[in-house]
Amino acid sequence: MPIELLATRRRQRRTAVTALLALLLAGCRPDPAAKVAVPPPHPGKNAYIRICAGCHMVDGRGLPNLFPPLTDSPTVQAADPTALILIALHGLEGPVEVNGQFFDGVMPAQGNFLSDRELAAVVSYIRQEWGHGADVVAPTQVQALRAGHPRHDPWTMEELSRLISSAP
Ligand code: HEC
Repeated sequence: MPIELLATRRRQRRTAVTALLALLLAGCRPDPAAKVAVPPPHPGKNAYIRICAGCHMVDGRGLPNLFPPLTDSPTVQAADPTALILIALHGLEGPVEVNGQFFDGVMPAQGNFLSDRELAAVVSYIRQEWGHGADVVAPTQVQALRAGHPRHDPWTMEELSRLISSAP
């Protein structure tokens, strides 16, 4: 092969490699507009998806006859989050009515899978997601209820309403 042709080929190859590198680099460069458009997820969302959504569904609507909805649930949005925290910690069994739908199943305790901080974040998430506007829950509230109720059995709604109505 003539020497000039070889040199041309080499130059062509170098140009192609440079173009490819430039393309790759452009792809890696962060797009500032995209950064602004995506807000950070709520700190409780991950744990909600991992722990609660398997039963209550990602959209919080539950499943008829099996898992009650968390959307528009009075327990979820109550000004006093005690019942919600205790249900998340120890579970719930027996009859419960949410928005005219009736359930009589068993929710197993979730407290062992979640630290005080994670549990506070999860219940805060469901108090604020889906158009809800209830106050966030602090990890210290979870810590106090976990320490104050060292139990393993799920609550019943009757027990919880007695507990909350007798609270100071
Ligand atoms: C294994 C399935 C399952 C998982 C996981 C689960 N739940 Fe439940 N949950 C239920 C069932 C079943 C009930 C209804 C129990 C009954 O009939 O007494 C319930 C009831 C509830 C209630 C009271 C009823 C209502 O809709 O207001 C709340 C609040 C609740 N769950 C929140 C949570 C949260 C928060 C998590 C995650 C930390 C969670 N649940 C994880 C199955 C589950």
